[in-house]
Amino acid sequence: KKISLTGIKPTGILHIGNYFGAIKPALELAREYDARYFIADYHSLNTVKDPKEMETNIREVAAGWLAAGLDPEKVIFYRQSSIPEIFELTTFLMAFTAKGLMNRAHAYKAAVQDNTEKENDPDAGINMGLYTYPVLMAADILIFDSDVVPVGKDQVQHVEMAQDIAQAINFNYKKELLKIPEASIQEDVAVVPGLDGRKMSKSYNNTIPMFVPEKQLRKLIMRIVTNSQGVDEPKDPEASQIYLLYKLFATKEEQDALAKRYREGGMGWGEAKEELFRVMNRELTPLRNRFEEIISDTDKLNEILARGTERARPIAAATVARLRKAAGIG
Ligand code: TYM
Repeated sequence: KKISLTGIKPTGILHIGNYFGAIKPALELAREYDARYFIADYHSLNTVKDPKEMETNIREVAAGWLAAGLDPEKVIFYRQSSIPEIFELTTFLMAFTAKGLMNRAHAYKAAVQDNTEKENDPDAGINMGLYTYPVLMAADILIFDSDVVPVGKDQVQHVEMAQDIAQAINFNYKKELLKIPEASIQEDVAVVPGLDGRKMSKSYNNTIPMFVPEKQLRKLIMRIVTNSQGVDEPKDPEASQIYLLYKLFATKEEQDALAKRYREGGMGWGEAKEELFRVMNRELTPLRNRFEEIISDTDKLNEILARGTERARPIAAATVARLRKAAGIG
């Protein structure tokens, strides 16, 4: 069986960009593939320095995966931090990772650019964790012989870097020591837009959290930015944030019906938002209810993650042993 792997960084609350870009496609893949899904807690240490906040985030991401339907009997579900072999593999990969490759990573480049504009110091606030972020992510992926990595578009470059690093190692030892992974992207949800039309992202503060209470969900939807077209004017559905989000939650019939109303005119933005709220709340309500149930049972959560670790570690250890042997570090 082929292997599907993906992770989520516990830097804040899960949002519907995470849901459609990664969680939902990953859970679909889990039906056919051997799946390994995890919480990338050491990746979030780069930005989350408050221990209480870290703990809460980890629990919420864990509960979020389960509420979305992850079956811990079928999927190996774990925290990155409980698999020390990942960090040994990271050190191994470092020796095969060109510094220039890291210089080209989008997240690092964006931080440098931001600094250059504001601080006059390109390195301000950038820690080595951010700089070497793609190496740790490559270790996450390569340690479990992953075939496919379901992610949103913003992570594709990182998966390509994992390919580069694995190839460098296979080339050096003249052996297929590491499997070359592929990103799996669902084009229609590769970039879920946020309230302001930019990519939905915690760092833009434009997210719709997956588990917000109904009242807040409605409020957020009412905040979606629209243009000044009047009620009567015909509107282009594909140019509307509201419609793009609507498509994620509505049936094909509902999508066609709303598109028709857009084109005919006579429907204002407020009404379109109400319709969006209806379909969104329909899908998110059962998830929200399950989330509330799961998050309150810490013992059960810990037990599930401990069991995942138990299953993951022998696989990880085998990969590291294989590399050590090949490298003459027996
Ligand atoms: P993270 O935690 O930022 O995001 C988790 C997943 O959600 C996707 N995503 C989106 N997809 C579509 N539209 C959006 N607006 C949107 N926002 C977020 C991301 O693409 C991602 O798939 N580096 C990773 C975590 C990670 C990882 C890994 C992933 C660490 N190790 C190994 C895969 C394999 C990250 O920061 O994702």
